[in-house]
Amino acid sequence: MLIFLSCSKIMITILFFLVCFEFSNGVNVRSSEGRKGQWQLLLNNTGVVGMHVALTYKDTVIMFDQTGAGQSGYRLRRRFNGSRCTINHHDLLDSTCYAHSVEYDISANKVRPLRLDTDPWCSSASFLSNGTLLQTGGFEKGAKRVRFYRPCGNHQCDWIQSKKTLSDERWYASSQILPEHNRVVVVGGRRVFTYEFVPKTSPGEKSFDLPFLHQTNDRDGGGNNLYPFLHLSSDGNLNRVIKTFPRIPGEGSRNYPSSGSSVMLPLDHRDNFQKVEVMVCGGSSIGALEAARKGRFLEGLRSCGRMVITGNNNKWEMEYMPKPRLLHDMLILPTGNILIINGAKHGCAGYENARNASLEPYLYSPNKKLGKRFTMLKSTKIARMYHSSATLLSDGRVLVAGGNPHGRYIFHNVAYPTELRLQAFVPHYMESRYHNWRPSNMTIYGGGGRHAIGYGKEFRVEFFLEKRMQNNEVGFSAYAPPFTTHSFAMNQRMLKLRCKSLDRKGGGWVVAVLEAPPSPNVAPSGYYLLTVVNGGIPSMSQWVQFAHA
Ligand SMILES: *[C@@H]1O[C@H](CO)[C@@H](O)[C@H](O)[C@H]1NC(C)=O
Ligand SMILES: *[C@@H]1O[C@H](CO)[C@@H](O)[C@H](O)[C@H]1NC(C)=O
Ligand SMILES: *[C@@H]1O[C@H](CO)[C@@H](O)[C@H](O)[C@H]1NC(C)=O
Ligand SMILES: *[C@@H]1O[C@H](CO)[C@@H](O)[C@H](O)[C@H]1NC(C)=O
Ligand SMILES: *[C@@H]1O[C@H](CO)[C@@H](O)[C@H](O)[C@H]1NC(C)=O
Repeated sequence: MLIFLSCSKIMITILFFLVCFEFSNGVNVRSSEGRKGQWQLLLNNTGVVGMHVALTYKDTVIMFDQTGAGQSGYRLRRRFNGSRCTINHHDLLDSTCYAHSVEYDISANKVRPLRLDTDPWCSSASFLSNGTLLQTGGFEKGAKRVRFYRPCGNHQCDWIQSKKTLSDERWYASSQILPEHNRVVVVGGRRVFTYEFVPKTSPGEKSFDLPFLHQTNDRDGGGNNLYPFLHLSSDGNLNRVIKTFPRIPGEGSRNYPSSGSSVMLPLDHRDNFQKVEVMVCGGSSIGALEAARKGRFLEGLRSCGRMVITGNNNKWEMEYMPKPRLLHDMLILPTGNILIINGAKHGCAGYENARNASLEPYLYSPNKKLGKRFTMLKSTKIARMYHSSATLLSDGRVLVAGGNPHGRYIFHNVAYPTELRLQAFVPHYMESRYHNWRPSNMTIYGGGGRHAIGYGKEFRVEFFLEKRMQNNEVGFSAYAPPFTTHSFAMNQRMLKLRCKSLDRKGGGWVVAVLEAPPSPNVAPSGYYLLTVVNGGIPSMSQWVQFAHA
């Protein structure tokens, strides 16, 4: 059960998952006035463009770009093979004298360089159950590579390139962790119409043809089915097509290089995580790629489609964003609302192909009435165009990085220079006026830290809550951190967990007994961010691992 939705065309399914609880979307405390969030500038130079980003369970963020970009913003004193990088002309231009991947330490607000042996440009990745990032594919010598990053928290760890390779070259493929055996499915890529599983369990393991990728390939549009949208449903079907969904309405396409985005809305314990709903937003108009090459930038798509992919009534329900948008990211906030951030209004993906940056994020509240779901948030001054990305942090902020619509690092005399500044978008719920409502000092018992929590098992969470939001539930969410690139947050999933009891102990301390997700179909084994949400105000999150006990 995975689902892939590809482009503006047909979709196929493979599906899976989710858990938990109802949170109300809104804080009733104040009107929407002033609930627009803030921007922080964290670093002026991340060294490398944050084309691909992922938050590890050690609270660091892995970022990487393409090794072929030449001079990055992080010059090395020595190459990774030990030889010195001098200031002679050759070395100044030599790509191996620059970092192309970094680890960002959130609490120290610093980056350190990581070693890449081959090019992971436009690749995919998924976290395994032990928190190791399994990265797949890239460009040229990197196209069949599998790399591991095992987070360590002591600044010692680095990329490890596996000797076992992929069966097919994967450039612009997507990947998704599966419920069983810690395996990842990797789907598609440029001129590749197959999927395969990693890590390989036997040397002879091959890829499988996927007719859907042939059917949806748009040659004149640059593919328009690259970085296929992949979501794991909760029904347990795998490796066969069980449903064909209707085509999403709207003129234009949704997948790379049209680069709309797709998100699976939070799964809820109240239906046993059986209702799975996907939302696809934005993208490019028909002919956007050809037009951009001639210097004409067509307006992007405003439409979003929502579809419940489980059950028998699979229909797209359409609605409209405030403005057209492409090249954006869609992230699930701990409140269960969707943040739509980064991107542009005109053109499509690819070098120099987009114009008119989308500077204001949108907040999408899935449970509000149609027509009332979008709110415009505070604008940034920094354009985040092609090759930008974003990811949620455990403290509730959203890290925003990258942007480089050029094959090299270019800072002057172009419409959109290479962007190395690192920002955080700080949602309104972190403002000091909500401080008394923000649950804090959370401790997870019977899991967290060293021990994983078994599927379906009860576990205890203790936290401090000064004021309970009136008439609002206290909810609990578990969030699988995604790997974000090219407008798609792979493996992103949120479960609203069942709370079996909630007791005040006095002095503001509260003890909740929660139920872990029932199975890996709902939540593949791995690290999740657990958050307490008090009527729309989330706590800082703590890492918890779900696994077979
Ligand atoms: C970034 O650079 C600007 C301009 O030089 C400076 O004012 C600012 O303090 C710097 N910010 C950070 C986070 O380093
Ligand atoms: C290290 O890499 C550089 C650049 O590719 C190469 O010129 C040099 O010979 C290498 N040195 C060693 C010790 O392998
Ligand atoms: C996690 O599993 C992967 C794949 O089996 C392995 O390479 C890696 O070393 C493991 N990481 C940890 C932290 O045990
Ligand atoms: C898009 O940007 C161009 C300049 O690049 C400007 O002339 C045009 O008005 C902008 N369009 C919109 C809809 O913002
Ligand atoms: C919560 O933790 C913070 C930081 O560790 C501490 O300063 C504060 O006193 C704690 N709050 C309570 C209510 O114990």
